[in-house]
Amino acid sequence: MAEVLGIDVGGTGIKAALVDRGSGELISERLRLATPRPAKPGSVASAVTELVSRLGYSGPVGCCFPTIVVDGRAKSASNMDREWVGVAIDEAFSEATGLPFTVINDADAAGVAEMRLGAGAGLAGTVITLTIGTGIGSALFYEGKLIPNLELGHMAGHDGVPYERWASNRARKIDDLSWEEWAVRFDGFLQRAARVCTPDHFILGGGASKKYEKYREGITVETPIHIARFLNDAGIIGAAMAVT
Ligand code: BGC
Repeated sequence: MAEVLGIDVGGTGIKAALVDRGSGELISERLRLATPRPAKPGSVASAVTELVSRLGYSGPVGCCFPTIVVDGRAKSASNMDREWVGVAIDEAFSEATGLPFTVINDADAAGVAEMRLGAGAGLAGTVITLTIGTGIGSALFYEGKLIPNLELGHMAGHDGVPYERWASNRARKIDDLSWEEWAVRFDGFLQRAARVCTPDHFILGGGASKKYEKYREGITVETPIHIARFLNDAGIIGAAMAVT
């Protein structure tokens, strides 16, 4: 299976495209729908079905989802509706579309794409990939192997508030921070993550990674930082790669 449909379900948007798994290239139009609010199982499954049918796809689907995912089942909710907790995401989407689904965490998917074909290719030791968007997603790799469901964004930070509510790209917008002000918060997050995990490398992905030039001077963590290659497409690509 060289060409597989990848779907990235996010807290803000749901994106889909056919992926060439050898090169990581998107080989169809990239479609996007806003994530329904509230993001309940039925409405999200309908949006996923609409994307599959608009692309006229039939075959196995790789999908990434913004919660802890164990054996295809959501174990947390974060930026999705609480009704998802305990739901078999793969079965819900398979029933809605009639296609087989493989589902993994969104940050894990983005990390897999970067480690195989992007900024992480060839990096040894412990690598943490981050997606800085609505939340802060994290993925942990040791010698290229994924250790799934790392949730660094949920570490308690300033005043006990989870870092993803203090240092995500959404927090920057909500609190109307300059890049310099936000960099202090994000650097605090990187320092804590480095203290807890001792990574050899960080790879930054997601919305804020494209603007690295605007805040790099505020980043003091010693761990080398790399910018993701696939940026906003990493989730789609890694999701497609998750299909076995
Ligand atoms: C979730 C993670 C997810 C991240 C990015 C967090 O709120 O807990 O599982 O990877 O958001 O979407």
